[in-house]
Amino acid sequence: MKNVFVVGSGIMGSGIAQLCSQSGYGVSIMDIDEKMLGKALKKIEWSLDKLEGKNLLKEKAGDILTRIEAEDTLENAGNADIVIEAAFENLKTKHAIFKDLEHVCRPDTIFGTNTSSIPITEIASALKSPQRFVGIHFFNPVHKMKLVEIIKGLATSDDTAEKAKGFALSIGKEPVMVNRDNAGFIVNRINGMAFLEALRLLEKGVASVEDIDKAMRYGLGNPMGPFELMDLVGLDVVLNARMGIYNETREPNHFPPGILKSMVKAGYLGRKTGKGFYEYK
Ligand code: 3HC
Repeated sequence: MKNVFVVGSGIMGSGIAQLCSQSGYGVSIMDIDEKMLGKALKKIEWSLDKLEGKNLLKEKAGDILTRIEAEDTLENAGNADIVIEAAFENLKTKHAIFKDLEHVCRPDTIFGTNTSSIPITEIASALKSPQRFVGIHFFNPVHKMKLVEIIKGLATSDDTAEKAKGFALSIGKEPVMVNRDNAGFIVNRINGMAFLEALRLLEKGVASVEDIDKAMRYGLGNPMGPFELMDLVGLDVVLNARMGIYNETREPNHFPPGILKSMVKAGYLGRKTGKGFYEYK
C-alpha cells in the first residue's frame, strides 16, 4: 500500500492523515467544507512543527507535509490503496460517500471507516463489494493513542481484515481484531458505561465534575477523568456513540442521561467549541 485517501477533515480525519504521511504514505485528505479543510491543514502543520521541535520525526516536517494533498471532491481517489472515511456519523452520508468511491476506486482498494457508532455491516450494505469494507477505529488523540480496533462486518473478507491489520501496524499502531460487528466495538462499549455512570452520579449530585474526574485519575491512575475525556472526544460524538449502542441493544442502561443531550443541544461540545464540562481558551 502506498496511497491513503482520508475522507473528512475533523479531529480524527486530520490526525489520521497526518499519521499516515508521517509513516511514509502519500495522503489525500478530502472535505467538502473548505474552511474545515484549511483548519485541518493548519493543525497538521502546527502538530508536525511541534513534533519536529521535540525530535520526534524521522524526516523534516516540511517533507512530510508535501505528501499531503487537500481535495474537495472524491474524484481523485482513483489511485488510493486504502480509503479511511472519518466523516460525521450519519448513515446516509456514509452510504453516499462509499457509493461514489465504488465508481472511482479500483476493485482492490480497501474501504475503511472510522465510525464509532454505526455498525460496519449497515454501512457496507449499500456497497456492491461489501467484502472489501472494514472498520478501522482510531482513538483521540490519534498521534498518541496506540490502539486501532479492526472490525469485521458480516461480509468483510478475512483478506480485507488482515490487510487493515497490516496497515495499522505499518503506521505504528497496535491493532486488535473485533470479530463480531457490535455497536461500540470494545473500548467504547466498556468505557462508555463509565461515561454514563459519571453523568448519572453528577445528575444525582453525588459529587462535582472536578471531584469525579479527580477520583478516577487518582483512584485508577487514568490519565483523564470521564468528564475531561468526554470534553476531549466531543459530547456530540459521545452522545452519538451511546445512542448507537442503545438503538442496537434497546437495553435501558445504555440510554444516556438527559444532561448529555442538553449540553449537546446547547452547543457545549467540549474542547472543540471552547466549552463542555470545563471551559477552554
Ligand atoms: N501534535 C503534536 N503535539 C501535540 C498535539 C498534537 N496533535 N496535541 C498536543 N500536543 C503537545 C502539547 O502542545 C504539549 O506540548 P508541550 O509539552 O510543549 O506543552 C504536549 O503535546 C503534551 O500535551 P498534553 O499536555 O495535552 O499531553 P498529556 O501528556 O497531558 O497527554 C493525553 C494528553 C494524551 C490526551 C492523555 O491525557 C491521555 O492519554 N488521555 C486519555 C485519552 C483517551 O482515553 N483517548 C481515547 C478517547 S475514546 C475515543 O477516541 C474513541 C472515539 O470513538 C470516541
